Amino acid sequence: MKKPYIFVTRKIPEEALKVFAEIAEVSMWSDEMIPVPRKKLLEEASRADALYTTLSDKIDEELLNQAPNLKVVANLAVGYDNIEIEAATKKGVAICNTPDVLSDTTADLTFALLLATARRIVESSEYIKAGKWKNWAPLLLAGSDVHHKTIGIIGMGRIGQAVAKRATGFEMEILYHNRSRNQKAEHELGATYCSFTEILNKSDFVVCLAPLTVETKGMFNKEAFKQMKNSAIFINASRGDLVDEAALFNALENKQIKGAGLDVFCNEPISANHPLLSLINVVAIPHIGSASVETRMEMAKLASRNIANVLQNKRPEALVNEAILDLL
Ligand code: GLV
Repeated sequence: MKKPYIFVTRKIPEEALKVFAEIAEVSMWSDEMIPVPRKKLLEEASRADALYTTLSDKIDEELLNQAPNLKVVANLAVGYDNIEIEAATKKGVAICNTPDVLSDTTADLTFALLLATARRIVESSEYIKAGKWKNWAPLLLAGSDVHHKTIGIIGMGRIGQAVAKRATGFEMEILYHNRSRNQKAEHELGATYCSFTEILNKSDFVVCLAPLTVETKGMFNKEAFKQMKNSAIFINASRGDLVDEAALFNALENKQIKGAGLDVFCNEPISANHPLLSLINVVAIPHIGSASVETRMEMAKLASRNIANVLQNKRPEALVNEAILDLL
């Protein structure tokens, strides 16, 4: 019998694909840095039983309509806003992601970004490397304290909770806003549920970890930044499109807020001459939330197992569209 065909849209370490050895024919886009061109993706989708994707690949109705054999798309990410879930469900295509294995790593990065922004680490490093350090001075590169301050987490899912856990070590007051109450975060971490407005008004650090949906798109707009403290630092480790970047730029430039630490942007990769990157009070990093060698390997293996399970008519470990289960 003909083996199912899997197309992998980015160069992934072979070790993570071992699970396919006996069960499928695999072809892989050979570049690690450059995403597969749309035309090639559509061509491959037209014959694939499974697609192993990254968040650079748009899996939309156009593609799904041209993919008669497609049974599963495994995204190498916990977020899946690059995929039209409803259209996939209608077509009977299982959509899988990589939750849990990346929560602690992403929380580490989020907290590192918060600390780096508050304590001006990047600016200080550039200062010393540029030979500008002539003397110790009382307020030289003085930043903001983190310990004992108030952190407001928007999106108290698995990563939000892991960030809150880290905040307890810094003896911070933890506020959160989420679609639904998170009893575990309240009881175990002492987090307090607040409205979005309350978080904006009260937090020293506003940390965005909510997924990108029609409801959250653009939620950090001009009004939101206006409601933050002038001393507030905004951190985004979720998706750029939750933020109106022009409004963020104005808020930073007009000193409505103090700083921002950004791992994600509306257009990725962000262009080097984007106005946000010209600001000294912005720490910008290239969407590396889950990027530790160990975690990326775990994610890659989980994505592979998700595909292998669906192709063998088993329930995948991480299924986004549960409605599909009746069809598997
Ligand atoms: C990365 O942004 C992810 O969604 O895993």
